[in-house]
Amino acid sequence: MVMKHIFAKALSTQIELLSIDEIFQLIEYPKHEGQGDLSFPVFTLSKHLKKAPNQIAQSIAEQLHDPLIDHVEAVGGYVNAYFNQTYLGQLQIKRILQKGRHYGDSDMGHGQVITMDVSSPNIAKPFSMGHLRSTVIGNSIALIAEKLGYSPVKINHLGDWGTQFGKLIVAYKLWGNEADVKKDPIPELFKLYVKFHEEAEKNPELDEQGREAFLKLEQGDEVHVALWEWFRSVSLDAFNKIYDRLGVTFDSYHGEAFYNDKMDEIVELLASQHLLVEDNGAQIVKLEGMPPALIKKNNGSTLYITRDLATALYRKRTYNFDHSYYVVGNEQSLHFKQLIEVLKLLGFTWAKDMQHIPFGMILKDGKKMSTRKGKVILLNEVLDEAVRMAKQNILEKSTYVDDIDKVAEQIGIGAVIFNDLKNDRLNDIEFNIGEMLKAEGNTCLYLQYTNARIHALIDKSRIEQVDTVNTIDAAAWPMIKQLHLFEITLITAFEKHSPAEVARYLLQLARYFNQYYNSVRILDDESHLKDRIALLSAVSIVLEEGLRLLGIESPKSI
Ligand code: ARG
Repeated sequence: MVMKHIFAKALSTQIELLSIDEIFQLIEYPKHEGQGDLSFPVFTLSKHLKKAPNQIAQSIAEQLHDPLIDHVEAVGGYVNAYFNQTYLGQLQIKRILQKGRHYGDSDMGHGQVITMDVSSPNIAKPFSMGHLRSTVIGNSIALIAEKLGYSPVKINHLGDWGTQFGKLIVAYKLWGNEADVKKDPIPELFKLYVKFHEEAEKNPELDEQGREAFLKLEQGDEVHVALWEWFRSVSLDAFNKIYDRLGVTFDSYHGEAFYNDKMDEIVELLASQHLLVEDNGAQIVKLEGMPPALIKKNNGSTLYITRDLATALYRKRTYNFDHSYYVVGNEQSLHFKQLIEVLKLLGFTWAKDMQHIPFGMILKDGKKMSTRKGKVILLNEVLDEAVRMAKQNILEKSTYVDDIDKVAEQIGIGAVIFNDLKNDRLNDIEFNIGEMLKAEGNTCLYLQYTNARIHALIDKSRIEQVDTVNTIDAAAWPMIKQLHLFEITLITAFEKHSPAEVARYLLQLARYFNQYYNSVRILDDESHLKDRIALLSAVSIVLEEGLRLLGIESPKSI
């Protein structure tokens, strides 16, 4: 942000019509080379002054002098500024070295609370690709929010309630056995669940039994509750193994079941405000421009949205959130629209602070990677495969790596996370482990290699600590400008709920670094060595911090 401030201040000495803040807002980062480092469009001024834009630009450019700005040019309706590269480079590098991994920290959030509904898999079912997306996107948004001074609260809204658990209990009693479930809980429970559906097609009687079993569970029947608790705990153990590998933690695991005894209040509220209407024995809320929200089925049981209504109320009361995010696949868009709308109808003004943050699907060869119909893809196995390939990769390339298994895990897991986050979240993404582990291109490994290369250079230089900079290579300028953009990138990423902004930023930084590396023989010139190591250290700080914000680790040597 420093460059913009400098330019805004310099411009403000020439412009009376606009405040320094207004000038600041107007300044642009030019898209193409040869348009300066920053550009100020004068069209707003020309409207007021009723003078031609190029004349205004010309006269500002002629008068503008600032020791930090090398020169300015008027091009059409723009004033383009070229900065004093040495001075700015020094400033930039020093700032990063001083702040270390706190470079980019801000208090723009003023501690505002953001509850974040993330991951939220369904117990007794495999952890799906959709839940993987929610987990990594949500985790990164939370990390970025925290860096900007917000207080995110990550909530894993487990899918641990609903008729399917009645069905599972029936299936377990009919065909399951304890030893098998203990050995390999999720695949075993899922098998039972699939079998139940196959059998129920031939024998609809089973569905009725499933409903009865769920009713018993709801009523607190001891045997049923004990089974459910067991399913829940073995599922959580399995999920936690995945979370550990992904490096993700949660502040709460209150899932749907937690709201079991908290739905009456919301149903009564709806009734008392005459929002609840009967429709074929069911209770619904009519909504404008979208299908009605089904609150209670005709047998009196509650639904997904009933639990989400109670959840929203509970979260507002418990955390008094300023914002409430739901990081959930875009196939649930209607659900969240309905949810927010019903809360608005109830007069809860905070419903406007709730936001669905949707994302697309993960595809394999253009098709959805599905966990339905018994076609189970176990995420842990997918992660194992990525790590195995990462290890093979390292073995082929490197001669010596300290702790190869640890590094392979960092690279393999990083590849899976980055492959997800580098894309705009609304896009469907292709899951191809070979592609995501390429050392060149838009991959995590490219970033991790670049960072390891920097560490190797720093080690080789034998320079221990640097905090000042004198000369700066001209070839370093694009990289320095990129370093400078880190803060604004984080803000954009936060505002758009888009970790992809950070991912792309890092790729560009690494590309600039590698261009520099190819054009300057970094270690050859003793007299410039300290300055170069300072620059390299700054780049590495930003690469590592940027990766951290995506939830990815950076091995120092690969
Ligand atoms: N368990 C749900 C699913 O897998 C996602 C829950 C999302 N969060 C929520 N509050 N509805 O589809």
